[in-house]
Amino acid sequence: MEGNVGIQDIVARRGIYYQAFGIYHEVGGFFDYGPVGVRIRRNIESAWRNIFVEQLGAVEIETTTIMPEQVFKASGHLSTFADPITKCLKCGTHYRADKLLEEYYEKKGESKKEEEIKKMDIGQLDGEIRKNGIKCEKCGGELSKVERFNLMFQTQIGPLTTDKGYLRPETAQGMFVDFKYLFRISGAKLPMAVAQVGKVYRNEISPRQQLVRLREFSQMETELFFDPEEMPGEVGEISVDAILGAKLNFEEAGKEEVRERSIGELLEAGKIPNKMLALLIYLEKRLVDTLGIPTELCRFRELEKEELPHYSKGNIDLEVKTSYGYIEIAGNAYRTDYDLSSHAKLSGTDLSVTSGSKKLVPHVAEASIGIDRTLFALLDSSLQTGDRDWAWLRLSSAAAPYQYAIFPLQKDEKLEAKAREIYKKLAARGLQAYYSSSGSIGKRYARADEIGVPSCMTIDYQTLEDGTVTVRNRDTMKQERVEEGKL
Ligand code: ATP
Ligand code: GLY
Repeated sequence: MEGNVGIQDIVARRGIYYQAFGIYHEVGGFFDYGPVGVRIRRNIESAWRNIFVEQLGAVEIETTTIMPEQVFKASGHLSTFADPITKCLKCGTHYRADKLLEEYYEKKGESKKEEEIKKMDIGQLDGEIRKNGIKCEKCGGELSKVERFNLMFQTQIGPLTTDKGYLRPETAQGMFVDFKYLFRISGAKLPMAVAQVGKVYRNEISPRQQLVRLREFSQMETELFFDPEEMPGEVGEISVDAILGAKLNFEEAGKEEVRERSIGELLEAGKIPNKMLALLIYLEKRLVDTLGIPTELCRFRELEKEELPHYSKGNIDLEVKTSYGYIEIAGNAYRTDYDLSSHAKLSGTDLSVTSGSKKLVPHVAEASIGIDRTLFALLDSSLQTGDRDWAWLRLSSAAAPYQYAIFPLQKDEKLEAKAREIYKKLAARGLQAYYSSSGSIGKRYARADEIGVPSCMTIDYQTLEDGTVTVRNRDTMKQERVEEGKL
């Protein structure tokens, strides 16, 4: 089985996430989240909000998920947001041509070739499929000529109209379309950061690897608007000079080697295009540190020219090593004035602004982080096996679905009432607690460990006498008695 079986087992048994539309037939690329999954997602979002909204000082907004055709005409998504597709001429199965070839070479042990495939156009991909005689994986049928397939979901706006709409493939466009209005209501000063969390939609050709390639997923995006000729010394609460010494695991384009480099050194070498993108990358590293994804699994990868999205003049993606190999969890792009200038041209609205004494169309640095892939990377990297009779998750307290589990020692009205009372107090303090009274204490500890709850507290007869509870630490399994008031 592909991927981490231990994680898949916990995910399935505890319903962290699961295939959507379960009572009907399976539709690839759609997952629902259960109660534990929703809590972890919310924690990822809170950690992001604290860093990108509160510390960076971004204005957070919510824009619509359906947008009219003009938006994506201007953004370039209508003409360029497409993947290479090939279809089996016998059974009709579709394949994303580049991924099919990457897997083909990976199986042959020629992973170097994967880098070349990333740079190929559709003609070259087609040639590569023919040259290697690659056939349909399901029925061995002949594969069709490789074509480009636009990934946007199309819809119709209003009844009986020909007005086309699209489900947004990124949250970013709402922030560009609203830019001038936001600039005016937020102090009319550059730099200005705008942030948004929300659903996005991409009609992926081959959804797979659970949360890694979905057709509906969520992004946390930040657009930092700035004057490229006047880099600010500070943005929000963060001093730009103070981040220059911070270190990252970095892979240069074209080099298959990850080295620890400082942000200052990467800026000087032109590996990070400017200080504003450097700042977002620094904050992203802070986010994964806060969530607890180990540094040694993370790399920031400079994309090659041929890999860049159509709007980007430089991308450094954050990738995490998982049981599926390295997966991109965030794309960081220097979008220049591409989007604002294109929207200005198509809409006929001047989107330049005056900042200080200068009139300009601002440039944009973007950090686009996927919640679903971040959650997957968190679960995958935190799995612990072999040291206990059960697999468990070493989730940080920032990511864990509950900070505490509360267990009455056994079924007894007095113990349960006391446990409920403690639960109520913790909930009123805003702590996330999990209450369970069924099964042996050992089983309940195991169930809490399995979803990464950092501490369990047991309420026993001594609690009723002296107000102390037994607190068990998930990582050490050590227990100590703590006064209820000191929890
Ligand atoms: P990939 O090359 O893997 O398709 P991408 O380069 O298209 O990814 P971006 O367009 O940079 O990804 O999107 C920003 C972020 O949105 C990604 O880093 C990822 O976390 C998330 N994301 C993109 N596509 C998907 C998807 N199909 N399913 C889940 N998350 C996704
Ligand atoms: N906003 C970047 C992306 O989704 O591609």
